[in-house]
Amino acid sequence: MNEKHRDAVGIFDKYAEQYARKYADHPAYVASYQRLIDLLPAEGARILDIACGPGLASAYLLQHIPSLNITGIDLSGRMLALARTHAPLARFERRDCRRLADLEERYDGLVCGFFVPYLARDEVRSFLKDSRQIISTGGILYLSAIEGAYEESGYQSRDGKDSLFTYYYSREELQRQLLAAGYAIEDWERASAVGSGAGELFFYARAV
Ligand SMILES: C[S@@+](CC[C@H](N)C(=O)[O-])C[C@H]1O[C@@H](n2cnc3c(N)ncnc32)[C@H](O)[C@@H]1O
Repeated sequence: MNEKHRDAVGIFDKYAEQYARKYADHPAYVASYQRLIDLLPAEGARILDIACGPGLASAYLLQHIPSLNITGIDLSGRMLALARTHAPLARFERRDCRRLADLEERYDGLVCGFFVPYLARDEVRSFLKDSRQIISTGGILYLSAIEGAYEESGYQSRDGKDSLFTYYYSREELQRQLLAAGYAIEDWERASAVGSGAGELFFYARAV
């Protein structure tokens, strides 16, 4: 694991509770989960929540479709502990989300909320390629990212400490990468949820 990446997991672990409080019930995120529900395959679908964090997406999905079979994966122990309390009907495992190729299961839906900001361009490319190997054709990938010029990616500090390297992506680049990995864009949205000046992008892509 490179330095930037190890730091990202460490910082998310340290601020897990704060993160969960900040984003629980956030209107832009809730709207995006609802859009995902509209597109998901029928009841009982198998879903992988990639870099699930405190399990907010899993909790929302299960609240609305309790029959979903959800597994969440993340590397932060504290995020996973919170996820288990927020979404007790889901299963959570400690796993490196850059190693999707190790997974043997196949899924009807992949949820990937704000993992891309911690992946460099070539890592996004292989992540999306691997994701296509574990999603059934016709399945939906939910992918969110922070919008911006890749060249402006850099360290963002939290309250002046604990800098976190954050990668920005343009809508066009992510669309290109999704298409190249074997997805068709079903829908996308732009939001400005965090209030930090940077906007967020939400993609709903179908595996073709
Ligand atoms: C911004 S949070 C997103 C959490 C959640 N998906 C959401 O949308 O609220 C990023 C998460 O990615 C996790 N993470 C970062 N790199 C990871 C890796 N290589 N494998 C697994 N989890 C990772 C962090 O621990 C953190 O929980």
